[in-house]
This record gives sequence, structure tokens and C-alpha cells, in this order.
Amino acid sequence: MLENGKIIQNNNIAEDIYELKLETDLAYKAKAGQFINIEIPGFFLRRPLSIAMIDGPILTIIYKVVGQGTAALKDIKAGTLSLLGPLGNGFPLLDEARVLIIGGGIGLPPLYELARQYLKKGSEVTVVAGFQTSSQLILEDEFKALGVKLYIATDDGSYGYHGNVLALIDHYKISDDFVLACGPLPMLRAIDKRYERGYYSLEQRMACGVGACMGCVCKGKDGKAYRVCKDGPVFPLGKVEL
Ligand SMILES: Cc1cc2nc3c(=O)[nH]c(=O)nc-3n(C[C@H](O)[C@H](O)[C@H](O)COP(=O)(O)OP(=O)(O)OC[C@H]3O[C@@H](n4cnc5c(N)ncnc54)[C@H](O)[C@@H]3O)c2cc1C
Ligand code: FES
Repeated sequence: MLENGKIIQNNNIAEDIYELKLETDLAYKAKAGQFINIEIPGFFLRRPLSIAMIDGPILTIIYKVVGQGTAALKDIKAGTLSLLGPLGNGFPLLDEARVLIIGGGIGLPPLYELARQYLKKGSEVTVVAGFQTSSQLILEDEFKALGVKLYIATDDGSYGYHGNVLALIDHYKISDDFVLACGPLPMLRAIDKRYERGYYSLEQRMACGVGACMGCVCKGKDGKAYRVCKDGPVFPLGKVEL
């Protein structure tokens, strides 16, 4: 669905990281783990960004400035943006007594709404969030306010546990075995190796975002091709080659 989103705010919240709040009817259809394709004026291809929070008609997006598109987006402080979405399958909401949510860096935002949905279902939610360094820390207060059990790691030890998320899990002997994850590929590979039950959300360069161009295909372990935009971005652990 193509809709306009009214910019409510677009603020800097950490090093190179911005929080964009959009008022749009798309919010009523959105699920945790889905994304929207945002048209940034002056750029031909839309940019895919995950839905971090859904609050009535407000969608919150948290994005990192990595190139020209996101650099232009950070300077748009008012008006409307053309949005295509909500896209992708989203995370399933299953009957699990305990879920372990693992997020790395800018992979963390879609896991916020997911944590909220699992808490609503009555699951006990543990969140392990890893960052390169403390200046990139996001969503700490928000996760704490939800009431999840929150653990934070930084690669350089500038905040929380010194090390990566899996080392933190070993250190604190976190034994939950149903995992929901999003983050950099090396982290997802390690999770895929260690755990058998759960889902992760993948990122891939995209063009159409709606399953038509085959530009975002990844290879399944069954030899089939999967479109990250349409068949994903959320896949069960063990489903695709990482
Ligand atoms: C389903 C999905 C959800 C996403 N959700 C978020 C999110 O919530 N927050 C966020 O900050 N980013 C998210 N991304 C990544 C985001 O789409 C890219 O960072 C953005 O499109 C880059 O645009 P740009 O014009 O600034 O950079 P470009 O100039 O296009 O590229 C700059 C750099 O970013 C890298 N890059 C570009 N696109 C991607 C991509 N799709 N995946 C990984 N690296 C990329 C390039 O390799 C290059 O190094 C998501 C991507 C996908 C596919
Ligand atoms: S981006 Fe076109 S098929 Fe996925």
C-alpha cells in the first residue's frame, strides 16, 4: 500500500542514529518485523527501514546514516514522505513461555515492537543488545520501561558487558532456547549455529521491495531461492545460507 506519512519528528538519538516518527494509516496494518519502503526526495530507489514501534497511527523508525539517502533523510524535519508498506512477513507471535531476543546495533529497533507484542501475549522476555560502543547505544530506557530483562554488551567495553552478545549469554548463563534476532551477519551466523529454535530478520540490498525484481534473493539451505523482501525478511533459524 502506498500512503503518505506525516513527519512528527526526526531527531538525532545517538551517534549517526535518528528516530523518525510518522503519522500514517499504514500503522494500523503493521506487524513487528515488517518494514516500509520510504521515498527520499531526489533518490530513485526507495530505502527499506524497519518498523520499530507501532502506536496508534504513529510508526517509529530508527535509522543509521550510512550513505547519501539516509544522510538526506536526516535533514527532512517536516512535511510528508511517500511510504510503501507495510512490507515483508514480520515475526510470528508464538505461544512461548520464554523468549530470548538478541539484537545487534541498528538491528535492534524492530525487536522493540516484537518484545512489546510477546510481553502482551504473556511471555517472559529477555533482551540481549550488543553495540560497538556506548555512543551507539539506543533503546535502553525504552526496553527497561517495558519491563523486560535487559542485558547490554559493547565490543569495546565502554558500557555494559565487555564482549559480544553470545559471550554475554555464556557469562550470565542465559539458558532460554527460543531466539528472535536481528543484527549484523556474523552475529546471525553465530546464532544460527548455536540455536535450533527461533527466527531472525535479514537485511539485503533491495530495489522493488515487493517481490517483483528478484534483486534481494538469498539462497535457502534447501537449494531454493528466497526473496528477502517478500518471503522474509524474517526466516526460521536454519532456513537460508548466511
Ligand atoms: C528489510 C530491511 C530493514 C532495514 N531496517 C533498517 C533500520 O531499521 N534501520 C536502519 O538504519 N537501516 C535499516 N536497513 C538498512 C537500510 O535500508 C540501509 O542502510 C539504507 O537503505 C542505506 O541507504 P543510503 O542511501 O543511506 O546508503 P547507500 O548509499 O545506498 O549505501 C551506503 C552503505 O550502506 C550499505 N547498505 C545499503 N543498503 C543496505 C541494506 N539494505 N542492508 C545493508 N547495508 C546496506 C551499503 O552497502 C553501503 O555500504 C534495513 C534494510 C532492510 C533490507
Ligand atoms: S527487492 Fe525486488 S524482489 Fe525483493
